[in-house]
Amino acid sequence: MLASTGKIEEPVTHWRFRDVLPMEAPTFLRWQAMLEERIGIVLPAERKSFLLTTLAVRMRELGVDDYDEYFNLLAVRGQGTIEWETLVDRLTVHETRFYRDCAGLDLVRNAYLANMQAPAGRAVRVNAWSVGCATGEEPYSLAMMLHQYLGAREGEYYVGITATDISMASLATARRGVYHRNRLKNLPAELLREYFDPVDIDHYKVSEAIRERVCFTRLNLLELATAPVGKMDIIFCQNVLIYFKRELRIEILDHLAAHLLPGGLLVLGAGEVVGWRHAGLEPVSRGDVLAFRRLRGTS
Ligand SMILES: C[S@@+](CC[C@H](N)C(=O)[O-])C[C@H]1O[C@@H](n2cnc3c(N)ncnc32)[C@H](O)[C@@H]1O
Repeated sequence: MLASTGKIEEPVTHWRFRDVLPMEAPTFLRWQAMLEERIGIVLPAERKSFLLTTLAVRMRELGVDDYDEYFNLLAVRGQGTIEWETLVDRLTVHETRFYRDCAGLDLVRNAYLANMQAPAGRAVRVNAWSVGCATGEEPYSLAMMLHQYLGAREGEYYVGITATDISMASLATARRGVYHRNRLKNLPAELLREYFDPVDIDHYKVSEAIRERVCFTRLNLLELATAPVGKMDIIFCQNVLIYFKRELRIEILDHLAAHLLPGGLLVLGAGEVVGWRHAGLEPVSRGDVLAFRRLRGTS
């Protein structure tokens, strides 16, 4: 604006982002209970400000002014279900990276694949499950490791990887399989060369040979009892259970144990659970890796 002084003046802005609305204790309890009941996640009081800022951003996008109004909207059939998907994605942590747990992958090689027998003339199926796969880095890492390891062995192998998560947005990214080069920094150069195709100057796409091995599906861990997932040789469940209450962690682990084939491995994140035991599994932890093997003769 040209003012009478002849100087260029900064335009006067009369708007700013609305402050985050305060939330009364009973309303916070209601949100906490709803999150725990629907996705199992415990939101402690220290994370109240995270909830409030997340809700503030989303409510501003929707033009909703009131926590109760938004809460009630989430219960509406149809619209509420779609809105819930968006909110879940924003409230869950999706941090992950390729080859995040090299020690876990080593354990799978040494404690499972190395002992696997491939009878002459018969293909061997290897089924793995990445539980809480986020944007795909974990299941793709598993697929690459299996491809590399089994490709160098005698015999014929079919690898199938099931990768599940509650976040539809993360699953969409995972299915695309396109990653910014910054996300691939820690990947050994030979893996980048072998398993990624450049898309443009900044992006790489996971190769077709690896992508076609991985099937991404939405699954809420609270619905494991009825999950249409078969028996697995390897189950990776890392950096997921830490957000749940201990009783729920145990319940989920018991369900995962039921999905392991005899001899199969369950590989957990180091701090995922303390003191869990299962009658059908033996601990095979090494170093920082917390892992269990299903005993032969148990089902
Ligand atoms: C921190 S990421 C872990 C990613 C990967 N496993 C890793 O270790 O790199 C946790 C993932 O768990 C998912 N998650 C959280 N609650 C879930 C639930 N109830 N059912 C299924 N997935 C859930 C989140 O959406 C998120 O993508």
